[in-house]
Amino acid sequence: MQPLLRIMRLRSVELAMPQAQAAAEFLQTPWGLMSAGSRKDTLFLRGTGTHPYILSVSEAAAPAVRAIEFSGASAEVAAVQARTHAAGVPVQLFSELDAPGGGAGFVVEGPEKQKYRFITEDAPVAELPPERDRPLQITHAVLNAVDVAACERFVNGALGFEVSDRTKMMTFVRCNRKHHALAYAHSDVSSLNHIAFEMNDSEGVMRGIGRMRDAGYDVVWGPGRHGPGNNVFAYFIAPFGGVIEYTAEVSEITDDYRVGSPEDWKWPPGRIDQWGISTKDTKRIPEAERRFRFG
Ligand SMILES: [Fe+2]
Repeated sequence: MQPLLRIMRLRSVELAMPQAQAAAEFLQTPWGLMSAGSRKDTLFLRGTGTHPYILSVSEAAAPAVRAIEFSGASAEVAAVQARTHAAGVPVQLFSELDAPGGGAGFVVEGPEKQKYRFITEDAPVAELPPERDRPLQITHAVLNAVDVAACERFVNGALGFEVSDRTKMMTFVRCNRKHHALAYAHSDVSSLNHIAFEMNDSEGVMRGIGRMRDAGYDVVWGPGRHGPGNNVFAYFIAPFGGVIEYTAEVSEITDDYRVGSPEDWKWPPGRIDQWGISTKDTKRIPEAERRFRFG
């Protein structure tokens, strides 16, 4: 078996929904992304980091998550493809993606119809000057899954991602030094749990809370600091119905990282993060985490 991957990067999440134009406007102001152009009924949005886009929204009758996309150099993408082949998992090849940056690659389907796209990006786009009120990139996506163990086996075995931690709620996996690019949350549905947008620092997260509050969107969980990943967070429910997060300071880990178990990640009574200052909207968040299904 080939060595596990180190340098794939989570690039984007592709969403579909009614009123995609209104969603794209919200994602620019107040959320902080920038337009990266459009193709037919799909609008692309970017952050200040080195990706041509980090989110796309397409017009559709119902909310859906169409793909989670990873980019890497040709050799890394070829290595993942070889791994899927060795695992007997079929892929759909494409020679040129109709999206900003183009590129060849393949799409592979996970055990619960999750679509993962891997795309060749030998020359990352130039980053824009960092701005404290704009996300750099997406740093993780969390997916609800009915069978988390099966998803874990798939991303590890067929895609080469490594498990960083397992808690009672979810399994965190990585494809480079960042603690997690994906996590799978135990659920009774397969859906997009949330997307995390990385800010330059915790100041950016706190300023984001204020900017969103000014626009009429109060934080639904946060500010706080997570256990696994050690990142600062603030969660919101977007007007298009999904859960979005501002985050910063996610930990980078080394090869000797010991994979944590649920026993390692128990909170004291009354705590759901390291700081213990926030409350969580336990009614609206779970509803929103179920809204975007795979399709
Ligand atoms: Fe998160």
